[in-house]
Amino acid sequence: KILVLDYGSQVTQLIARRIREQNVYCEIHPGDVSPAFIREFGARGIILSGSHLSAYDADAIPVAPVVFELGVPVLGICYGMQAMARHFGGEVQGSDHREFGAATVRARGHTRLLDGIQDRQNDEGHGLLDVWMSHGDKVTRLPEGFKLMASTDSCPIAGMADEERGFYAVQFHPEVTHTKRGADILRRFVRDLAGCSGDWAMPGFIEEQVEAIRKQVGDKHVILGLSGGVDSSVAAALLHKAIGKQLTCVFVDHGLLRLGEAEQVMETFARHLGVNVIHVDATQDFMGKLAGVTDPEAKRKIIGKEFVEVFQREAGKIENARWLAQGTIYPDVIESAGAKTGKAKTIKSHHNVGGLPETLNLKLLEPLRDLFKDEVRKLGIALGLPHDMVYRHPFPGPGLGVRILGEVKQEFADLLRRADHIFTSELRNTRASVQDVAAGLATQEQVGNTWYELTSQAFAVFLPVKSVGVMGDGRTYEYVVALRAVQTQDFMTAHWAHLPHELLGRLSNRIINEVRGVNRVVYDISGKPPATIEWE
Ligand code: XMP
Repeated sequence: KILVLDYGSQVTQLIARRIREQNVYCEIHPGDVSPAFIREFGARGIILSGSHLSAYDADAIPVAPVVFELGVPVLGICYGMQAMARHFGGEVQGSDHREFGAATVRARGHTRLLDGIQDRQNDEGHGLLDVWMSHGDKVTRLPEGFKLMASTDSCPIAGMADEERGFYAVQFHPEVTHTKRGADILRRFVRDLAGCSGDWAMPGFIEEQVEAIRKQVGDKHVILGLSGGVDSSVAAALLHKAIGKQLTCVFVDHGLLRLGEAEQVMETFARHLGVNVIHVDATQDFMGKLAGVTDPEAKRKIIGKEFVEVFQREAGKIENARWLAQGTIYPDVIESAGAKTGKAKTIKSHHNVGGLPETLNLKLLEPLRDLFKDEVRKLGIALGLPHDMVYRHPFPGPGLGVRILGEVKQEFADLLRRADHIFTSELRNTRASVQDVAAGLATQEQVGNTWYELTSQAFAVFLPVKSVGVMGDGRTYEYVVALRAVQTQDFMTAHWAHLPHELLGRLSNRIINEVRGVNRVVYDISGKPPATIEWE
């Protein structure tokens, strides 16, 4: 396994991710963790991360000398390189000028780290690498015993190595995808230089996590708010595997879930996996509180507050509970860090159970907080959760509450649930075809994938306006349903999905024919920005 020492870079998690992609296990620990811990960790290789601080900052953490005494290869990245240089008596110079962005690095000499890894060659046959840089300080004199490994125009010492002792360092960031061969460089380090076998996989991760959770929790009881979403479901399955009956899940059904969702959650967790689940049907409470409220933010606040209240009431009944588990994943950790520094602006108040641990007097357990979404999904599959549940589109906490525009009423929720179900089932049953490729709607590689897989989020929205129609011989005056399907990587920006017209036509027919009370279906063709994904 590999030890990543974190000195406070924004992208340290990406180092771990890139390494785990090589099927090599690694853990991130703070740069100032005790020397004894580093010694006992038993790493085959150590990586020193970047930092938002300068090597000259009073708060900057120096590298513990033990790192260089274990006889294992060490890779310093950015700040890690500067700290390594200083440790060995090289020279680092601060500068007010930051180099930030794409750069081309020329490989110098031959080193085992970079040999054969290049994007192209220059006229003299030297390997060139397209990399991503983000630094102010730089190494200006090599330490004793180190040779030059790479340079750029503005940073003559962009990489250095003491091959005898296995110490390597780069000024650029191999962990970000803008450094095109970054994964190859990290792979070279962990597989070839550190000698990790690359046979680590999810089952191994599960075993380690199970062990860690058992140790942490002891004989105490854990409560988890199960929403039916991917993250809380995977957290529940993992905790159940670790501590079985010491886990109680509270599933608050606010009556604004998708068709059959409550049944599916109970079927999967309570019956199939044998997890303790308390199913609280709070539909009437929520509907009562929402009656007459039309303002989107007011609705969100009411749903969030009511959720916390119901959850607290139920959790308070569970004896011996000491822990509150949450399905927080790594992007949430970053997002809330951004929110804390005030950089992120609140566009919509997102509903979550933050603040609960304080009022319930529980300690927080977040077994997924180091994982990215795709890793969470793989974990879910490895834990035996159904594919459809694990690969489900995201669903907002306030549920259909933000997809029924204006006042939420039971009859609207029932109608919307059925329209939404028709939409998603058609997407699941329709595959991209060669005709779609010819029409420019899909690529050759996407042929055969379902449109559910080819969209990131798709749902129906209930519009409380009536329009005139004609059915049979009669005039109708009924509600409108809007369909929304988007494609996005990060949900911060999104494109509307170009669905095949035939599919859209079928959707309109089915919804109008099968859902009483709807006589018109429209398709949302707004991007984000300027629109948001949800309508409220
Ligand atoms: P917007 O509408 O802001 O949505 O473009 C971006 C993503 O966030 C989801 N979303 C929420 N998720 N609680 C959640 O857990 C919320 O209150 C909430 N509001 C929006 C939305 O479904 C989309 O994936």
